[in-house]
Amino acid sequence: MAAEYFDAIPTDFLDPGMTVSVEVDGFPVAVANVDGEYYAFQNLCPHQGTKLGGRKLDEGCFITCPMHASRYDVRSGECVRPSNEDNFDQDLMIFPVRITDDVVQVAL
Ligand code: FES
Repeated sequence: MAAEYFDAIPTDFLDPGMTVSVEVDGFPVAVANVDGEYYAFQNLCPHQGTKLGGRKLDEGCFITCPMHASRYDVRSGECVRPSNEDNFDQDLMIFPVRITDDVVQVAL
């Protein structure tokens, strides 16, 4: 079955270098704008569930959890620095994205 895409946010609501928290079909998702390319990932840190969306990206494509400093590449979900509490290093779930009529759509 083909993936079902849901509206997440208009493209012009999200500046390059920023992320935002959205609900996609009731699921907490974060969307990032990496130099005009959009990426979607789980909004809650896999370590202890701290919200990630709404923070600036650093070095263009990385987000750092404010709780224990885990760092993730939002393009791939890869955990590039583990939690400073217990070295937990699970990657973020990421979701397919497409743009339709200037709206970022995310497939769950
Ligand atoms: S909750 Fe995110 S690193 Fe611990």
